[in-house]
Amino acid sequence: MTPDQVSDYCIEQMRMAFSSYLPADEVAAVFIEPIQGDAGLVVPPTKFVKDLRTLCDEYGILLISEEVQQGFGRTGKWFGIENFDVVPDAIVMGKGIASGLPLGGVVARAEYMDNWEAPAHLFTAAGNPVCCAAAIATIGVIRDEGLLEHATRLGEHVMARFRKMQERFEIIGDVRGIGLSIGVDLVTNRETKERHREAAAKICYRAWEKGLLLSFFSGSVLRIQPPLVITREQMDSALDAIEESFEDFTAGRIPDSVLETVKGW
Ligand SMILES: Cc1ncc(COP(=O)(O)O)c(C=O)c1O
Repeated sequence: MTPDQVSDYCIEQMRMAFSSYLPADEVAAVFIEPIQGDAGLVVPPTKFVKDLRTLCDEYGILLISEEVQQGFGRTGKWFGIENFDVVPDAIVMGKGIASGLPLGGVVARAEYMDNWEAPAHLFTAAGNPVCCAAAIATIGVIRDEGLLEHATRLGEHVMARFRKMQERFEIIGDVRGIGLSIGVDLVTNRETKERHREAAAKICYRAWEKGLLLSFFSGSVLRIQPPLVITREQMDSALDAIEESFEDFTAGRIPDSVLETVKGW
């Protein structure tokens, strides 16, 4: 399908659900990751995200962006949903929000937040002052050190390098993502697009032997989501290690025995 066709198909599936087994007035909210993360770094067509917003508005359903993985500057915008020019009713955030200290948050329009009465948001560890200080410092660093622009610029460089590798290595089926949220989809065959788990596992193992922590999700997609403070030089040395690992895999220099220990997502 084309991106437009797949968008229409997915929206149609939701309309069909609303008209048969899932009454729309029983649906409070639709939660989406603006870019699917662990599902294999799948970037939706902009048309889909916009049409989803329209569909939710039509039925009075809240649209909530789950930004735990794509948020906080990773895609070159503060939040992943901004890449699609859509405003959600609420945003769920975590992970990068406090640079490793445990913190999560929910932001929503005042008209909703004001209607959720106490103790709707009572959590034992909520609002920890040290974690909140880390989040404030993180926001300052992202803003003052230009990390949004850095993620966009470096992301383009990384995508270009993987696209060059794609010309060399038949097993690279797709390179996709936005900013520093990039997935490299490995396939046994570019026509059938069958997942190449063995390649992903072996390449991650060889990369680890070279000193690079690399993981994969959805069975076959290399996960390229470095810290936003990574320099171009550090990124290039990581990409060199990955490229050498591709060479080793293609030449059959990574033994099957490593498959017993590698665990991907
Ligand atoms: C999109 C997304 N949401 C939520 C989580 C889980 O977050 P937590 O471990 O803070 O519950 C993850 C990954 O761990 C994730 O990728």
